[in-house]
Amino acid sequence: MATLFRRRDRGTAAERGTGRRFFWLGGRRHVADAPYVLPSDDQEINRLDFQHYMLRYALRGNYAAPLNHPATILDVGSGTGRWAYEMAALFPETRIVGTDLVAPKPDASGPLPPPNYTFAQGNVLEGLPFPDDSFDFVHMRLLLFAISADKWPAVARELIRVTRPGGWVESIETGPQQHGGPAMDTLVGWITEASRRRSVDPLLGPHVASFFANAGLTSMVTRAISLPVGRAGGRLGNMAAADVFGVVAGVKPLVAGLGIADAQTYDSVLEAARADLDRHHCTLPFYIAYGQKPR
Ligand SMILES: C[S@@+](CC[C@H](N)C(=O)[O-])C[C@H]1O[C@@H](n2cnc3c(N)ncnc32)[C@H](O)[C@@H]1O
Repeated sequence: MATLFRRRDRGTAAERGTGRRFFWLGGRRHVADAPYVLPSDDQEINRLDFQHYMLRYALRGNYAAPLNHPATILDVGSGTGRWAYEMAALFPETRIVGTDLVAPKPDASGPLPPPNYTFAQGNVLEGLPFPDDSFDFVHMRLLLFAISADKWPAVARELIRVTRPGGWVESIETGPQQHGGPAMDTLVGWITEASRRRSVDPLLGPHVASFFANAGLTSMVTRAISLPVGRAGGRLGNMAAADVFGVVAGVKPLVAGLGIADAQTYDSVLEAARADLDRHHCTLPFYIAYGQKPR
């Protein structure tokens, strides 16, 4: 593992200002001092933005919980801030807070952050930087590659802690792509192995709802959807394929760095999986769960 951290990047002034350290692996920037498996760089920002629009389209909206004029909303692991910005526009009277290890990169050509949005740097594995009962709605999407497997119960309790009694917590997680054929299964196996060596289990998606239920959420609603991956799934299928291969490419340096598969072998299996896609019926699952903090 030590070799993975050989080249530390001092980062830009803005990055240093956040106190966050990065390291580079196979040309991709990663967050140091956290188990997070995916890169944290411009390429990943593009994938996350793209994925946000794909999910909003596939899920027909940005949330599922029955919100009623929330005064405050927290987005945990807020990434590029896209979701929070859109919620800020949708609920202009609501105070929206995003929290993440890494502050969102300012978008020089994009709109300014909405006036009712703020960012607070935080590490959900170490406790959120907010008092008890602070938010009417707490949302966390796609942190499966960020949360150590044994920390899930504590993370669920932490999200509930900062939620107001009667408020809602919503989680969206994913699982590995399924029915993609043998090459895709090989990639999934390598990515799972690399993640587990960083204490993260990417197969926990279907179990996340139970962590929240065990931590005390009531009136829980769960839903699973499977997006088609590949041309047979039309435009959504093409979007899901771009997202899947974006993740697969993003984890390659880690898989190679850990000696699980060398970069050349990884590339050839990735190309085989891409070529195979339309011969199989590959799907990408998402698991949505929401519930209420008891009054
Ligand atoms: C896959 S991205 C999802 C981003 C966003 N929720 C979305 O759906 O677009 C995961 C995010 O979690 C953040 N993250 C990773 N580890 C974290 C931690 N321990 N605490 C807070 N955020 C973390 C990463 O920096 C990244 O922005």
